[in-house]
Amino acid sequence: MEKILIKLEKHITSAQEGLKKIDCEKKLDEFRVKSMGRKSQLTNILRSIKDLKTEEKVLVGKKANEIKGKLENMIENKMAELQKKKVSKLAETEWIDVTVPGKGHKPGHLHPTTQMMEYAEDIFQDMGFEIVYPNEIDDDYHNFTSLNMPEGHPARDAWDTFWTEEEHVMITHTSSMQNRILKSGSPPIRAIVPGKCFRNEATDARHEHTFYQFEGVYVDKGITLSDMIGTLQAFFNSFYERDLKVKFTPDFFPFVEPGGMVSLECVLCRGKGCRVCKYTGWLEILGCGMIHPNVLKEAGIDHKTYTGFAWGFGLERLIMLKYNIEDVRLFHSGDLRFVKQF
Ligand code: PHE
Repeated sequence: MEKILIKLEKHITSAQEGLKKIDCEKKLDEFRVKSMGRKSQLTNILRSIKDLKTEEKVLVGKKANEIKGKLENMIENKMAELQKKKVSKLAETEWIDVTVPGKGHKPGHLHPTTQMMEYAEDIFQDMGFEIVYPNEIDDDYHNFTSLNMPEGHPARDAWDTFWTEEEHVMITHTSSMQNRILKSGSPPIRAIVPGKCFRNEATDARHEHTFYQFEGVYVDKGITLSDMIGTLQAFFNSFYERDLKVKFTPDFFPFVEPGGMVSLECVLCRGKGCRVCKYTGWLEILGCGMIHPNVLKEAGIDHKTYTGFAWGFGLERLIMLKYNIEDVRLFHSGDLRFVKQF
């Protein structure tokens, strides 16, 4: 019996030594078979128990089970250790940076209109204007009536309007937000409205049915036309990154009085005269004027205390002049040859 017990002890110590050298799961499996399997030394030792006396059998059996349990434990621990090592090695060698842009793919960029819209918004924001986005579909009241154009007013015909079956308007200009802006707070009020507008027009190189406008509204005590011209001049100088002359000429819009057009010294020929400015040296850029007292009254603003100005320009036209683009239809064409240039 003594001999068997010694053999068992020896078996476990040599197993401990053997385990230390094992460095992979496959070797550990082989080790398991060798030290505990049917043909293992342990099984041989256990077989010899049958020749012992009954009380010795109990004693040795107990010891043998203990040794077997110990061995199993050791192998299990070793397995856990190996797996842990394997995982941390994998984490080191095979990690993937999911934030790296894909190979061979250009990640894309914002559409030129969006880029320029943000660029223009930033300039006005720096001047203290708040940004208000319009509803693309609105009602008759906001697009026309509140702007001093009651139903049946002939000036409504100046805007070729898309109407929905429910008699809503696809906004023809971002002036559609004027009444809401004027009602929303007390002066000073400074806001710009960049947004999509729609006109039921045939398209050509200079006209689109869908385009972007920037409305501007400024109301306070003592505001004059020269404040407006100064504001617009500062904007254009920033937008085109150079000093450009502007000029005001009278024009009619029912919601301003006086109303006018602001023209900009031709960006392309610098006022010398070219095909784009029709050899006048000037480009008509936007409609504007002092907000009509009726529009202020309609929004509950005392027109004797406060005055204000408003303007509206088409964003695409400004971009076309900045980059010498000849056809407005390119903006919505989805043509990547165009889009990729920005
Ligand atoms: N809403 C006008 C248009 O679309 C432009 C404009 C805005 C004119 C504000 C005057 C004042 O034509």
